[in-house]
Amino acid sequence: MRLTISAFVFVSVLTSTSIAVAEETPPTLDLMPVPAQIELGTGFYTIDEDFSVNLEGDGATPRLRRGAQRMLRRLSDRSALFFEPSTFLELVDRDDAAMTVTADRAGGLALGGDESYRLAVTQEGIRLQAATDIGALRGLETFLQLLTLDENGVTVSEVVIFDEPRFPWRGLMIDSSRHFMPVEVIKRNLDGMAAVKLNVLHWHLVDDQGFRVECLALPKLHELGSDGLYYTRVQIREVIDYAADRGIRVVPEFDLPGHGTAWLTAYPELGSAPGPYEIERSWGIFDPTINPTIEETYVFLDTFFAEMAALFDDDFIHIGGDENNGKHWLANPEIVAFMEKNGYDEPLMLQRYFNERVLEILTSYGKRMIGWDEIFQEGLPKNIVIQSWRGRESLFEAARLGYPGILSNGYYIDLIHPTDHHYLNDPLPDDSDLSAEEAARILGGEATMWAEYVSSETVDSRIWPRTAAIAERFWSPGTVRDVADMYRRLDHISLQLEELGLQHERNRPMMLRQLCRCRDIAPLEVLLGTIEPVKVYRRGQQRKHTQFSPLTRMVDAAWPDAAPARQFQWAVASFLGGDLADEFDIASIRGALESWQKNDAALEETLGTSPALAEIQPMSATLTEVSAIGLDALDLLTKSDAAPGAEWLQPRIERLEAARKPHGQTELMVVDPVLELVCAAALPASLKEPGCQPKQEAMAVGEH
Ligand code: ACM
Repeated sequence: MRLTISAFVFVSVLTSTSIAVAEETPPTLDLMPVPAQIELGTGFYTIDEDFSVNLEGDGATPRLRRGAQRMLRRLSDRSALFFEPSTFLELVDRDDAAMTVTADRAGGLALGGDESYRLAVTQEGIRLQAATDIGALRGLETFLQLLTLDENGVTVSEVVIFDEPRFPWRGLMIDSSRHFMPVEVIKRNLDGMAAVKLNVLHWHLVDDQGFRVECLALPKLHELGSDGLYYTRVQIREVIDYAADRGIRVVPEFDLPGHGTAWLTAYPELGSAPGPYEIERSWGIFDPTINPTIEETYVFLDTFFAEMAALFDDDFIHIGGDENNGKHWLANPEIVAFMEKNGYDEPLMLQRYFNERVLEILTSYGKRMIGWDEIFQEGLPKNIVIQSWRGRESLFEAARLGYPGILSNGYYIDLIHPTDHHYLNDPLPDDSDLSAEEAARILGGEATMWAEYVSSETVDSRIWPRTAAIAERFWSPGTVRDVADMYRRLDHISLQLEELGLQHERNRPMMLRQLCRCRDIAPLEVLLGTIEPVKVYRRGQQRKHTQFSPLTRMVDAAWPDAAPARQFQWAVASFLGGDLADEFDIASIRGALESWQKNDAALEETLGTSPALAEIQPMSATLTEVSAIGLDALDLLTKSDAAPGAEWLQPRIERLEAARKPHGQTELMVVDPVLELVCAAALPASLKEPGCQPKQEAMAVGEH
């Protein structure tokens, strides 16, 4: 062990000036989420093949033991250090251990459980202390992120970290209905969640497009509602246990009474319309809705929830509740008569009646209810939890009326927004007008991975690495908001997530090879660095998709957050925002534009011989044209004193506008920064011209 004694520098990310903290944080600290408090020394501890771990305390549970073994596995694999078998197998009563982990008790897997820990790298060794084994697991993940591998070997910075989450509910929702996600997909994503300290897997198991859980008492649900693609009870338990081992709760969602096609495909007699019903193959909001006015519905749901309440451990069951359009209710005279008799003026009032009945059932089985915005109607008991997809204001409104809730609006990762868009979205911003008591009802948030446009092959690349940044929003102090530093750390974390078997990085080159049926994918990768899938719901508007559509095209290989395009945009902003003379910016802008300009020629053969790539050919040609325009503008800005004026500018603005046209449901991400170069080259004041304004994305949610 080598360690220099030093004064600790206290870096608290809880202070109001902490936006600057990221800059003060040395590059060796690539933590995500950023801990609550960091005291940083200047030395480091070296890990060698004698490394060992000792577990202590009543919280040294089998779960913690397995967690420590997984940590050692990853440490050894990452560093290529050979540990003795005893290092993995003997984890107690080791007086000589380099790392001591003390956990006072076993943590319960319930909302609000203690996840705090203290991690100290000092002269005496590495000490991890936590109130619970779950807190210790969180600390082990931090420890793995602290490792530095360089010319000094494998080291850990001298540091004292105190850490605890800002919010108790930090989730990822995975939709297994629209596209079925095999168990191994769920498991590797649970590993990713644990690595960034997320603690709830919200499992969307039922929707119009598939009923994905085996039900012994009502077997037609999985037999007729799933095309044979469902999780057996054994598999469900396997996932729950796997999650529990990582300190993650599993909250199942059975969407009711709307999004009801799969339920009603199996049991049409519970429908509000005569049927027949068939599993839905396309995307959108559909009419099939469970009939809330017949007692058979509640007998059925009682049977169903009795089984599910026993199968799933968590205190919560999610009942969906979203996007019931009420059409089948209003078209059914008996339902309308029921509404009239009970004084219900609108479908939402009938849905409230339904919710009350479902709540009674869940309560009888010891479960709490969570649902989307639509379940929030005053009068329901205040222990239900509202998940807001519509917006923060509806979450706050519920909190003011006494209801706890979590935010998902702004964390819809299926909408293909860049990471910073989600990262800067806060469930509880500083300037909220909630009282302390109301604010305490904001329990956290969830990223939502709706599965219209993801398969088991691509889902990781939609979840990761962006969800690591969302996890930081839920865990770290709200003052941690430095976007550049987030992207810097995310780059490291993304590779570490690969260690867990996540496929977000490695599937992309494979998909490109499959697309071109060739080995030289370098020019395709260059093109891919400049395009992203169209945002929000435009993909479905541009081309009809069903459950059987290919998800193997360029749009599927493209990332939501194309790093080369983003870096180009930053270089242009820095160049134009500075004195136009920064050699580094000029070189990086020119280098990017030149490589993009040449790329179409390099791609010609590949694109020409691949039917699957033909749709992207116009995009490649457009990239060349846009790059040429950008290079002209850069020359004017750096080599000429004369500004060419509006006559030069207008046709270029028009060509750049035309370059925004999507191809193959992808869009070119470098148009705005080239437009800025062109406008700045033409006449400095032109940034005030409407044609010079960058195009902003509108945000939307819904239709799930
Ligand atoms: C939803 O997006 N319909 C919850």
